[in-house]
Amino acid sequence: MSIKAPRGTEDLLPGQVEIWQYAESVIKDVVKHFNYKEIRTPIFEHTELFQRGVGDSTDIVQKEMYTFKDRGDRSITLRPEGTAAVVRAYVENKMYGLPTQPVKLFYFAEMFRYERPQHGRTRQFHQFGVEVLGSNQPAIDAEVINLAMTCYEKLGLKSLKLVLNSLGDQESRTNYRKALIEHFTPYKNELCHDCQSRLEQNPLRILDCKKDREHQAMQTAPSILDYLNESSRTYFEDVKHYLDLMEIPYVVDANLVRGLDYYNHTAFEIMSEADGFGAITTLAGGGRYNGLAEDVGGPETPGMGFAMGFERLIMALQVEGVQLPLLDAIDCYVVSFGEAANESAIRLTNTLRQNGISADQDYEGRKMKAQMKSASRNHAKYVCIIGESEVEEKTVMVKAMDTGEQESVREQDILTYLRKRLNGGIGNE
Ligand code: HAM
Repeated sequence: MSIKAPRGTEDLLPGQVEIWQYAESVIKDVVKHFNYKEIRTPIFEHTELFQRGVGDSTDIVQKEMYTFKDRGDRSITLRPEGTAAVVRAYVENKMYGLPTQPVKLFYFAEMFRYERPQHGRTRQFHQFGVEVLGSNQPAIDAEVINLAMTCYEKLGLKSLKLVLNSLGDQESRTNYRKALIEHFTPYKNELCHDCQSRLEQNPLRILDCKKDREHQAMQTAPSILDYLNESSRTYFEDVKHYLDLMEIPYVVDANLVRGLDYYNHTAFEIMSEADGFGAITTLAGGGRYNGLAEDVGGPETPGMGFAMGFERLIMALQVEGVQLPLLDAIDCYVVSFGEAANESAIRLTNTLRQNGISADQDYEGRKMKAQMKSASRNHAKYVCIIGESEVEEKTVMVKAMDTGEQESVREQDILTYLRKRLNGGIGNE
């Protein structure tokens, strides 16, 4: 029996990879303009980091982690998300001492969660994320949200919805927690098994339950927004004000609680509203996590960030039919016929490649027509044709594939000729 990829993992094949690279390059451009710097952390961490950081009562920690003992009997976990790891790296490397504060970081990384695979949900997936550490200004929250929205917009997505909420500070949450427990306790036996234990451990997560969504107690549950104390309310108003200044539309949803425990104040998600996107519509999620650095043993450090799923981003590009530039085009395909011409072709392809022009050719001795077909399948912009007469005359016949125009070019001039045309008329010797 042939060996298949593990359930919940996907191969990215040529053709798709170029789309990912394109999306990455657009996003890298955005983060550059926002002045965020890349960080790379290990794929695995001590399990304790996620237990403390993400939270013991979350689905991620309770059911979804890839955890194993290494040969030194240490409990190791493949990272299920990036924030706890970035905060760990920030603390461990004393980045709070860096001259430029706050510290603004981004990452592209694969994550691992043992979830039930379905469309838009895999066990290995990829996130682009950002984390800002060392500022508790509401303008930072708006900046991070703006960055996320800008990435999608620069990639050409239109059907987006930004959903915003505030989970308040510790005091607000403690009061709200009490109110939720009071509200849901009379219905305890009617709630699903998970929500029954959430009632004690983490009642906020009941609001996020898919199974109990229709229960009447959900509709009448108290709203966090009524439990925000003065400073939390002001903070939330400020975040909204900055979003207005940046002209970013949003809707407030008091039931948005997020699946990770570290959040306080701002929480947000970005959904796709495109027709046919599927049941799972969340493209990205994030928020503020002011206590996380202390939870992992560091100094008090406010934090704010988000992560977007890359698989879901690519799905959204496809569903919205966003036209991407031709991504796998090569500059030149070299076509030859005749033994001497074949040798010239090998020399020419090599010269082009060594001089910054992407080039390919046929080594299989295919007929001229088949070679031309390969040229167009490779989306070559130019074809260099070498036959017997070209060898004799030391020339190359260059065909522009977009116009079909052909021109005979002296061998010694070919680099200058192609460079000029590939650079839109600007030649560089
Ligand atoms: P999260 O909401 O768990 O947040 O994940 C963020 C995004 O990752 C989701 O919106 C989704 O696009 C993608 N994602 C999550 N799980 C899967 C999966 N199984 N398959 C495919 N895509 C998935 C976090 O991870 C937080 N660390 C975000 C954050 C950063 N908060 C503050 N800073």
